[in-house]
Amino acid sequence: MKIGIIGAGNIGGALTRGLTKLGHEVRVANSRGPETLADLAAETGATAVRARDAAQDAEIVIITIPQKNIPDLPRDILDTAAPGAVFVDTGNYYPKQRDGLIPDIESGTAESRWVANHLGVEITKAFNGIAALHLQDNGSPKGTPNRIALPIAGDDPAAKQKLADLIDALGFDPVDAGTLDESWRLQPGTPGYGKDYPADQLKAALADASPERPEDFKA
Ligand SMILES: NC(=O)c1ccc[n+]([C@@H]2O[C@H](COP(=O)([O-])OP(=O)(O)OC[C@H]3O[C@@H](n4cnc5c(N)ncnc54)[C@H](OP(=O)(O)O)[C@@H]3O)[C@@H](O)[C@H]2O)c1
Repeated sequence: MKIGIIGAGNIGGALTRGLTKLGHEVRVANSRGPETLADLAAETGATAVRARDAAQDAEIVIITIPQKNIPDLPRDILDTAAPGAVFVDTGNYYPKQRDGLIPDIESGTAESRWVANHLGVEITKAFNGIAALHLQDNGSPKGTPNRIALPIAGDDPAAKQKLADLIDALGFDPVDAGTLDESWRLQPGTPGYGKDYPADQLKAALADASPERPEDFKA
């Protein structure tokens, strides 16, 4: 499958490694240009491209950049994706440490809904609550006891299923975490965030989550 990745840092790098190992055709981009991604391209066989070319013909496009940089993306950056493409956001809002104040999120808009509003596309949220190195190294075959589970939130069942299959192939149990507007259940500071729980514990943690932002994650 053709997969575009916008952002080539911790998570973009981990996904480039994992997805190329599975045989996918990956185009990966950062903000500085493909020449700065020569090492990652040589290591993985991914094609380093300009950000505006990452989505080209892709069935899945993963946006994995800091929240504060989302408004820098041109509104048409995803227009060249394949018809029916799935757009994935891995992002988290860290107002104190990195992103500064984003009023809509502070007032209750789910982080990935804010991304969807900016980009004008349907977004499915995934990969936001696992440390990049764990995503890269800690996958295991289906059926492994305590296999790490990863939540997926979104409004399109077909997109969620496509992503669930990809997550399973990467070595993790996919868990349906509800709609995009409910995706506060998997945001930073919630009970399941960063815990590497197996599916049953992750489901309980998602059910226990509160829409109230924890103080540490307010500007
Ligand atoms: N780190 C983790 O373990 C982790 C885990 C789960 C989720 N997340 C979330 O996933 C997102 C990415 O995190 P990260 O740790 O991978 O970030 P990171 O290591 O700081 O990398 C960010 C990447 O985004 C690129 N970028 C920034 N602005 C861009 C733009 N306008 N166009 C194209 N590329 C752009 C950067 O390119 P340049 O370097 O060229 O500027 C860089 O490749 C964040 O929202 C983060 O909270 C992170």
